[in-house]
Amino acid sequence: MGQLEAAKQQLDKNGFLDIEVDPTLDLVEEIRRLKKEKNAIILAHYYQESEIQDIADYIGDSLGLSQQAEKTEADIIVFAGVHFMAETAKMLNPTKKVLLPDLKAGCSLADSCPPHLFRKFKEKYPDHVVISYINCTAELKTLTDICCTSSNAHHIIDSVPQDKSIIFAPDRNLGEYLKKKTGRDLLLWNGSCIVHEIFSNEKITKLQERHPEAKLIAHPECEAHILEKADFIGSTSGLLRYCTESSAQMFIVATEAGIIHQMQLKNPEKTFIPAPPNNTCACNDCPYMKLNTMEKLYLCMQYELPEIVLEDWIVEQGRVCIDRMLDISAKAGL
Ligand code: 13P
Ligand code: SF4
Repeated sequence: MGQLEAAKQQLDKNGFLDIEVDPTLDLVEEIRRLKKEKNAIILAHYYQESEIQDIADYIGDSLGLSQQAEKTEADIIVFAGVHFMAETAKMLNPTKKVLLPDLKAGCSLADSCPPHLFRKFKEKYPDHVVISYINCTAELKTLTDICCTSSNAHHIIDSVPQDKSIIFAPDRNLGEYLKKKTGRDLLLWNGSCIVHEIFSNEKITKLQERHPEAKLIAHPECEAHILEKADFIGSTSGLLRYCTESSAQMFIVATEAGIIHQMQLKNPEKTFIPAPPNNTCACNDCPYMKLNTMEKLYLCMQYELPEIVLEDWIVEQGRVCIDRMLDISAKAGL
């Protein structure tokens, strides 16, 4: 059996095509060539490794990536991000081939809300509107009324009539933050992101003492005690915009460290310090996002595998909540 056939057979187990890549190959050139030959577009999240961001056609947050996926005319969408993002792209543009370099690039937040348990929970509150953060599985989206991302969540909540009760899933930290921001009493699912819960309050305080001029900026997936001390809270693109527009010269960044690449590129004269985790490992790197590598990106474009395949009913029912989110976002000018 050839190397390719063997790799295909192991795809489900490995999550990626485990084929040796010639170390002398210029991967940047090869990926560019494949993009052109196959009319493919690379959509990358800010948490991807720098080299992948540099070769992407579009880099953005979850909302921007969904908007790009919906409108692209490319034949192949190569998603340099995690599984729920690639699934969302497939739901929004089902006739396109959607590739993800490593199928095991999941998300702890999406995993924290298994659809069969959520279905039972939802049945107890039949009158509630369900708003789900986009960081959830495609099946969970079929149980959702309106989807949201961190950059449009409060607009989505505001779109629900005041007399309607709301279930918010799966992120309890984002949910608590939104309760304060919107004044609504949201019924929360108890999920969280392993990366955004790792920041050390104590170490951040010490950093702030050492650099009193630094602004602390945080993603709303962080815990309340971090958000309370933050100078600015926003989605990844919101954080990037804030750093660029602010006159401050130093920032402590409480989100996944990959975003610092764009912050530094856009603001070469400013200093960005990753918020320290409460242990010694580099845990503010998302272990799922960082499963994608240049080698896997090249292989998935070369062999058009692994591909995101969704059942028709998931696409039909799951995209309803995403379409509603995109409509509300467009009306809000997002
Ligand atoms: P945004 O980029 O939409 O802010 O989301 C952050 C995140 O954790 C994605 O997994
Ligand atoms: Fe999921 Fe957290 Fe990684 Fe984002 S950073 S993909 S929410 S595990």
